[in-house]
Amino acid sequence: MICLGIETSCDETALALVSEGRVLGERMASQVELHALFGGVVPELASREHLRKATSLFSGLMADAGLAPVDIEGVAVARGPGLLGSLLVGMNLAKGLAQGLGVPLVGVNHLHAHLMVAGLEREIAFPALGLLISGGHTHLYLIRSPFDFELLGRTLDDAAGEALDKAAKLVNLPYPGGKYIDILGSTVQPDDTLFPRPYTANPGLDFSFSGLKSAVARHISQNPHLRLPALPDGGLPDIPGLPLFCASINSAVADTLRIKTERAADQHPEARTLVVAGGVAANSMIRRVLGRMCEERGLACVLPSAGLCTDNAVMVAYLGEMMLRAGYRHGPEVTSIPRGKAIPLDFLKMPG
Ligand code: KG4
Ligand code: ZN
Repeated sequence: MICLGIETSCDETALALVSEGRVLGERMASQVELHALFGGVVPELASREHLRKATSLFSGLMADAGLAPVDIEGVAVARGPGLLGSLLVGMNLAKGLAQGLGVPLVGVNHLHAHLMVAGLEREIAFPALGLLISGGHTHLYLIRSPFDFELLGRTLDDAAGEALDKAAKLVNLPYPGGKYIDILGSTVQPDDTLFPRPYTANPGLDFSFSGLKSAVARHISQNPHLRLPALPDGGLPDIPGLPLFCASINSAVADTLRIKTERAADQHPEARTLVVAGGVAANSMIRRVLGRMCEERGLACVLPSAGLCTDNAVMVAYLGEMMLRAGYRHGPEVTSIPRGKAIPLDFLKMPG
């Protein structure tokens, strides 16, 4: 089945075509430079940019793939979680195309898509543990199949990426901060006495990064020399102590993720694989720490390549095609679901 995937949940407008689990084409317009001017994503601007770019990206994608719209056999769209205004742009395009072409439509959970697209590069053995770490989410799942996710734990406040981004902002590193913390921090060894592993002294699987945020703010107020005078344009600054600061925060986040994931693996010995996804899964230290943990426990570790970690439409088309082929369908009334709201299982049709 030739499935079109549409992703507009945050600041990437992306469309992709997948058929039989293979990528036929992909087009993406990033808004990172626009939002970098404001130090974070501005929702209103994001929606307008999606609206401006989406249809021309669609024409470009079809031309790249040498296909015509009538070749599309199903449409999948990220229905949430995300920024509501942004999601609505993608949803509207998806409904228009599905209705106009007379093909089935399915709304895909953006977070599940992040995790399942790892299967494009390496087969996932189920049941699997899924750790979704992005700018907006830190979710730990037990995944029984691509269509059966049980949420085991989630952040009670900031997401892992948000913790890194806020720390980066405090020292005036550019947006997206997590990436710069990774780059600067990878040049030195961390000092693991600097920052806590927040919310780990409890038996649960939820996360809370607010303790780390306070510790980082305290550290900066005691060490104001770490703060860059102004946002640097271009190369990264050479500030003594800044690489150590970055490495140590990175290590605190990586270790916190490792502690909770290892606890989930203890509670679910049936899990055969750990899948890690989301923008923060591009982080080199987190990849190393989780990779080592899996090796020690005999778990297969599936870490998608960097291009598949951040938001993209291949993931929506990939999981969407699997869902459509399995018989999942949404009706024309399907809605977008903003961040913080549960995504309902309101399929028009489900298999079986
Ligand atoms: O999944 P994503 O692209 O967007 C959503 O939040 O849905 O994730 C963006 C997050 C940002 O917080 C960004 O700082 C972080 O991913 N990020 C990284 C790295 N690259 C992107 N964090 C740590 N290390 C990286 N290399
Ligand atoms: Zn995402």
